[in-house]
Amino acid sequence: MRNENSVLSHNPLRHGLRIGRTPEPCTMVIFGASGDLTSRKLVPALYNLARERRLPGGFSVIGFARRPWDDAQFRDLLRSGVNANSRNGSVDPALWSSFAEGISYLQGSFDEAQAYAKLSERLAELDARRGTGGNRVFYLATPPESYSEIIHQLGAHGLSRSPNGGWTRIIVEKPFGRDLMSARELNNQLLAVFDEPQVYRIDHYLGKETVQNILIFRFANGIFEPLWDRRAVDHVQITVSESIGVEDRGGYYDRSGALRDMIQNHLMQLLSLVAMEPPVAYDADAVRDEKVKVLRAIRPIYPNEVDHYVIRGQYGSGSVSGRPITGYRDERGVASGSQTETYVALKLFIESWRWAGVPFYLRSGKALPRRVSEIAVQFKTVPTMLFADMPLNAIEPNVLAIKIQPDEGITLKVGSKVPGQQQIRPVTMDFRYGTSFGVASPEAYERLLLDCMLGDGTLFTRRDEVEASWSIITPIHQGWTSGSALLSPNYEAGSWGPAAADEFMLRDGRTWRRL
Ligand SMILES: NC(=O)c1ccc[n+]([C@@H]2O[C@H](COP(=O)([O-])OP(=O)(O)OC[C@H]3O[C@@H](n4cnc5c(N)ncnc54)[C@H](OP(=O)(O)O)[C@@H]3O)[C@@H](O)[C@H]2O)c1
Repeated sequence: MRNENSVLSHNPLRHGLRIGRTPEPCTMVIFGASGDLTSRKLVPALYNLARERRLPGGFSVIGFARRPWDDAQFRDLLRSGVNANSRNGSVDPALWSSFAEGISYLQGSFDEAQAYAKLSERLAELDARRGTGGNRVFYLATPPESYSEIIHQLGAHGLSRSPNGGWTRIIVEKPFGRDLMSARELNNQLLAVFDEPQVYRIDHYLGKETVQNILIFRFANGIFEPLWDRRAVDHVQITVSESIGVEDRGGYYDRSGALRDMIQNHLMQLLSLVAMEPPVAYDADAVRDEKVKVLRAIRPIYPNEVDHYVIRGQYGSGSVSGRPITGYRDERGVASGSQTETYVALKLFIESWRWAGVPFYLRSGKALPRRVSEIAVQFKTVPTMLFADMPLNAIEPNVLAIKIQPDEGITLKVGSKVPGQQQIRPVTMDFRYGTSFGVASPEAYERLLLDCMLGDGTLFTRRDEVEASWSIITPIHQGWTSGSALLSPNYEAGSWGPAAADEFMLRDGRTWRRL
């Protein structure tokens, strides 16, 4: 006889949605608390969680940075950050005052041992005063060069383990390394001080509702999965385009580039969710086991093959929606002869039974006409002899597009007869989050911060995943540095990227989607 309880406990959706759980009381220490990420994303996300009563009682924040602020100045800055950036508009004064009671500031430099001794005292004091029970989250919202110093100091001050049977977790921001070797080194440093289940490597794309919905869409509906393989799918296109240039992040970006900044993390995550096998459970390890198998099955692009599989570009001056954009090399912080790519397109093959022979085209760039993130699964065309008297290309292939931003939703393109005519025209079936549910989606950081406090690592990147992804990306960089043609501005800001990227698709008899 079926045991109802065991059926429920193995139902991935029931398990995975974790409706309404509230974390245990804890303190979040934000390293880099005077920075942009803290005031623009982290604290607005925490405030929204407080607004929705998802934070535990006694929840506290300690902001750690160098600026000589006191608690009141720090709280004022965060309040303006919430006012400017919260999806719920300006702050509610009563709610803010109870939320802000738990916020304090600790001035110190990351390499200053004394500051960690003070941090340790402050944490113990909060455990006693606000009942946080020795539970801590350390958030590294700092320049990546500071990660190893902070990790080392936390270990040296005994802060990687909690007193009183509490838990300690650490969230590490992107970028996680700049190549395979540095990512491995950072993992080694982290795991010399913390255990893997304590480590939460963040990729905020995984916190987006539509990205989480990829798994629900695939595995909670019976009709798509039988078509989700090489027999029915012609190819997959994943696009993440930005309409802005580098703005004031030229210095950072020039050391990074589109391949590191977008493809290694966000697009590889999207690819692995679209291509993975069904996990045996909706839990952190089962989901990540399947994702990492996809990354490991990707056929490597060796340095001498880079020009065949990868196109790179750099934008010159132009305009997007009437807004002038300075050419990349003239941006502040960018070297005058910079070889950094602001656009990249590549073709990958997953050597698995399911996906053999199906190309996955990935592209991402800056200063493109629109800000769009989407995954498009293009199905094979039907044999057309039935409609032989119609013009060539009259029947367009079915495309399932998962839209991540700006309008979150899913569309399916199908061919339909035009009324009164012997013609077929594509129409789309649309699902939009906004109109179907009538509520705004939570910000990615809300979900991710809450999951970390709940001890759920499903939407964070595991050590083997991050290294598998770098092992695909690093040989491409090696190919670029060891010989291929020098990069010069090859697309105008406001265009859809270099002409070579269109030719790259045409060689395969395909075109990029017009977005
Ligand atoms: N901003 C974003 O939207 C965004 C998005 C995704 C990922 N990230 C990642 O998040 C991290 C933080 O980005 P951010 O934009 O917030 O950087 P940021 O604005 O430059 O802030 C850096 C923070 O680190 C502090 N800091 C730097 N060196 C320090 C030291 N030696 N001792 C103590 N504090 C020090 C600074 O404090 P003082 O100035 O007070 O010294 C400041 O609070 C980066 O890894 C970035 O890649 C950011």
